[in-house]
Amino acid sequence: MRLLVNIDHVATLRNARGEGYPNPVDAAKICEQHGASGIVFHLRGDRRHIKDEDVFALKDAVTGTLDFEMAATDEMIQILAKVQPHLCTLVPEGRLELTTEGGLNMKAVFEDFKSRVFPAIRKHPIEISLFLDPNPEDIELAHQLGTDAIELHTGNYANAADDTLRKAELDRLAKAAELAHGFGIKVNGGHGLNQQNLKPFIDAVPHLNEVSIGHALISDAIFDGLGKTVENYIKIIER
Ligand code: PXP
Repeated sequence: MRLLVNIDHVATLRNARGEGYPNPVDAAKICEQHGASGIVFHLRGDRRHIKDEDVFALKDAVTGTLDFEMAATDEMIQILAKVQPHLCTLVPEGRLELTTEGGLNMKAVFEDFKSRVFPAIRKHPIEISLFLDPNPEDIELAHQLGTDAIELHTGNYANAADDTLRKAELDRLAKAAELAHGFGIKVNGGHGLNQQNLKPFIDAVPHLNEVSIGHALISDAIFDGLGKTVENYIKIIER
């Protein structure tokens, strides 16, 4: 199981003052030096955190897995082709949302992904991951598209109001992971994971390949330092 760190919110902090610091590329280097297996960024249509120039600087600096999280727009696919990251995670994107609010609605996007998105990305040696809620129907459709990986949306687990709901979400995630793994699809997970809920998640959900963690990890780093925080998350994964 590998930790990928999402560094979007280093850029959020930088952009709050319009200065050149903190620099997401410096953050990425520290994460990798302290054991992260790679870096995730989300270039949003509105460029609210990561900017185009960050993307190319990250491509030059990151030595492990580089995961380009994006909406499946023609604009993003063109940038993806220039950047050539290892992995492309496709997510739904709402203009007014504070963060990605859920997985892709595979029924709604299936035809478009089949005819436009997958053929365009498949011209490149870039793995495709689809960000999905733990629904069997979505996973079946992802399999029909021939995705390399899925990233299970852990937001409902992270936000569950009580133990019963939390347990129910873990069960759904575990079943979804089994189904995807049975199809030969790699299983990643992310959204809302933190130092409290990470361990129960990885204990309950089989076949996990990577977790992608951003907001909580960058927040913890304000108090503990980025390198130490990355090490703390890796200790949880390895425990
Ligand atoms: N995975 C995906 C697909 C996401 O959209 C996000 C948020 O940008 C994350 C993981 C990381 O979520 P968080 O910032 O809550 O750790």
